[in-house]
Amino acid sequence: MLTPHLENDFLARGVSRRSFGKIASLLAAGSSLPFYNEMAMAQASRINNAPAGAVMINANENPMGPCKEALDALHAIAGLGGRYLFGEAEKVQNLLADGEGLKPDHVRIYPGSSAPLHQTVLAFCSPAKSLVMADPGYEAGSGAAEVVGARTVRIPLTKTYAHDVKAMAAVKDAGVIYITNPNNPTGTVTPKADIEWLVANKPAGSLLMLDEAYMHISPNPQFNSALVAAGQDIVILRTFSKVYGMAGLRAGAVLARPDLIEKLDRFSQNGMLPITGMAAAGASLKVKSLVAERSKMIGDIREDVFAWLKKKNLRYVPSVTNCFMVDTGKPTKEVIAAMQKENVFIGRPWPVWPTHVRVTVGTREEMEKFKVALGKVLSV
Ligand SMILES: Cc1ncc(COP(=O)(O)O)c(C=O)c1O
Repeated sequence: MLTPHLENDFLARGVSRRSFGKIASLLAAGSSLPFYNEMAMAQASRINNAPAGAVMINANENPMGPCKEALDALHAIAGLGGRYLFGEAEKVQNLLADGEGLKPDHVRIYPGSSAPLHQTVLAFCSPAKSLVMADPGYEAGSGAAEVVGARTVRIPLTKTYAHDVKAMAAVKDAGVIYITNPNNPTGTVTPKADIEWLVANKPAGSLLMLDEAYMHISPNPQFNSALVAAGQDIVILRTFSKVYGMAGLRAGAVLARPDLIEKLDRFSQNGMLPITGMAAAGASLKVKSLVAERSKMIGDIREDVFAWLKKKNLRYVPSVTNCFMVDTGKPTKEVIAAMQKENVFIGRPWPVWPTHVRVTVGTREEMEKFKVALGKVLSV
């Protein structure tokens, strides 16, 4: 909760009283922190009235949804929805901690990863401490940066579509260096060695926020919980929205030192989490074969689409996850609109790459429809 102590902390970091007032009144009113929702990018991803039969490959969702074990668990617990069962989140916390080789106090469960992403920026950025991220990258944190008067510094990806960790570390006033690995929208990996280098060489007083939303889907997942265990200045974000297919059920986690988690906690309203989401998350973690199975299923469909793109001489970014970018050679917005006329909804534009579109890997059937529609729209 927001306390006078937090107000002092904000003011000492040079955040204006007005910004503090905005955050305080939002939390007092019980609303979620709306920075992401206010952004044009989020509006572009939100399609509420898609026609029947529309192919929805615009928001990096997982069409498989929750696994059977997760569905069984949430059905079984739904009848207890009248209770505040705080222990359900604790079960997920313990399971995750066990799987990651971390103490439970280094794991905090949230309703998805968006809230802690924003909270990390609020806690560690200010007019004197910038948010540093990739371009193209997942922009959600920049909304929170704006609220605390922080600059967002955008660093182009390298030629191999990795985060340019050297250029990121060179931003001397960095408060939070944000790496999405694999990156959204490109689906490309920043090597583990680069992440380790960045942790060792980032500017003093900065924090690495490592968003591993899509890591499980990559065929060779490389996690970094060991950096948390080693006590580094790192906040790792995890979500159950992607490989586990639970975007609408809401579960996510932070892996970090307890003192860092405490700093984020000041922006949380209360500790109650949806028990359906918790039951489904816990059940999913117990299915040991699930991640590899789903990674393969998504990967097979992705590679099939890549083979088609190659055949059609269309350039694409070699993603290892469930979204990829295609260079259409035409203005992105025109292609998106033309695809919608074919009842295929693809992702939003990234201004830095004005002729690329981002596409989510859907089911095989959906991707066949995508091929037909894109072939027609681009006359290939
Ligand atoms: C990189 C990245 N981080 C975080 C999120 C937020 O996901 P959620 O709040 O559903 O966990 C998304 C959603 O698409 C994302 O792409």
